[in-house]
Amino acid sequence: MIPYPARVDDVPGGLAVRLAPGFVIDAPATFDTAWLRAAIGARAGWDSGIRSVAHDAATVSLRLAEEASEHPEGYRLRADGDRIDIAAPTEAGLFYGAQTLVQLLRPAPGDGWRVPAIDIEDAPRFAHRGLMLDVARHFFGVETVCALIDRAAALKLNTLHLHLTDDQGWRLHIDAWPRLTEVAASGSANGDPGGFFTREDYRGIVAHAAARHMTVVPEIDMPGHTHAVGVAYPHLAAAPVLTDDLRAQATELDQELPAAGEPYAGWAVGFSSLRIGDPRVEGFVRDVVAEVAALTPGPYVHIGGDEAHGTDPSDYAAFVRHAAEAVAAAGKTPIAWHEAGLVGGLPAGTVGQYWGLRSPVDGQDDAARAFDGGVILSPADAVYLDMKYDGGTRLGLTWADGPTSVERAYDWDPATVIDGLDEARVRGVEAALWTETIATPADIDEMVFPRIATAAEIAWSPSSALAAERTWESFRVRVAALEPLWHALGIGFFASPEIARVTR
Ligand code: ACM
Repeated sequence: MIPYPARVDDVPGGLAVRLAPGFVIDAPATFDTAWLRAAIGARAGWDSGIRSVAHDAATVSLRLAEEASEHPEGYRLRADGDRIDIAAPTEAGLFYGAQTLVQLLRPAPGDGWRVPAIDIEDAPRFAHRGLMLDVARHFFGVETVCALIDRAAALKLNTLHLHLTDDQGWRLHIDAWPRLTEVAASGSANGDPGGFFTREDYRGIVAHAAARHMTVVPEIDMPGHTHAVGVAYPHLAAAPVLTDDLRAQATELDQELPAAGEPYAGWAVGFSSLRIGDPRVEGFVRDVVAEVAALTPGPYVHIGGDEAHGTDPSDYAAFVRHAAEAVAAAGKTPIAWHEAGLVGGLPAGTVGQYWGLRSPVDGQDDAARAFDGGVILSPADAVYLDMKYDGGTRLGLTWADGPTSVERAYDWDPATVIDGLDEARVRGVEAALWTETIATPADIDEMVFPRIATAAEIAWSPSSALAAERTWESFRVRVAALEPLWHALGIGFFASPEIARVTR
């Protein structure tokens, strides 16, 4: 099981539960039993049209019960004889219990499928368990995003952060500024095709996420990473700042540098900025934030704030305050990348997202500690899923301190990244898939699986001090045991040589 539950016990004298295609689901009317039947059917290879029949006696019972867990996402699962009982105080808890059940299914040779007799009590360590998808460098449509939601939710992640805008494209229609998607969404990095979400598309993603107990966090990255804004509305953009560092990046990448107002298909970062101080830019930010907030039922809007190397520091501070205030005025809590922490004067409750290495440098830890709303940890050398696994990986980058093996991705603890940050102020963990080199759904699978499982376990499971199973040796065997499920679901995971190969 991944993430490994908080407590797992045998049932003394218990019997494995046999599941046949007609098993009975007994659940509250609000629970999506069709989803659970399909999830189990997908693993077992059963026809999805099969209905419950009384003589296939095993029952999966899902029950809302306040006392089942002290945690709103917690659950209790007990399998023995002809019953699997899942109890939880909330629908989310039932969903996570059901996800655990799907992972417990094993073929019983000659005998259908079985779930071992087991008694589990489970709840997450951290409230925020996220996955970020960059749909700006390469655009991915609703179907791909929804499939990724299903895959992330199966590992008990509860947040999908969409990086909706960057130098290469603007991916969400904004009524007040239609040229953003009419003009600045047609391409992706490397000259690949672009695209964008209509309001209906975005609502569809949010609704699908909600059905899988995931909250969507939209990110509008500003004031850097905004070259696309100037492609659509030249009067809003500052001229690209082509520093020596940028020229060196472009030479190393063998890519053209951006020209003002022209679409950008390279990957150099840090040249773009908005025309800060211009009242039209302030109006633009207010309009965009207000529309995005109105479309988003979740409590957060992410304003970016990273790598604004082309922005004067005092302009940067004024801009970030203004953007964060626009989010607060729209009734949402701002999230910003950690650089924004040091500007001061952000609205109460603003949350930081740390993306430095596991060992912060140059005051990054001060910046991360400065957010009174706490910090989401995305250490780039652990959870950036676009990093190569090893020197031979087909896709991906290496700038975050070299390739990130699965073991390296697993080997860290959120309590020790930011010195002096109380664990209560760590909101959780978010893995991130940046997509400069990721262009297709198959590319996503290859870079996300299996490494996303490391972030899922680090975010959910008790720390290694508490759980004997929270070790690499245990993890590499347990992730191998998930591969048949991923295979059944059509996930084209990377068959890492680090993962134990088991016969099954
Ligand atoms: C980032 O990787 N620039 C957040």
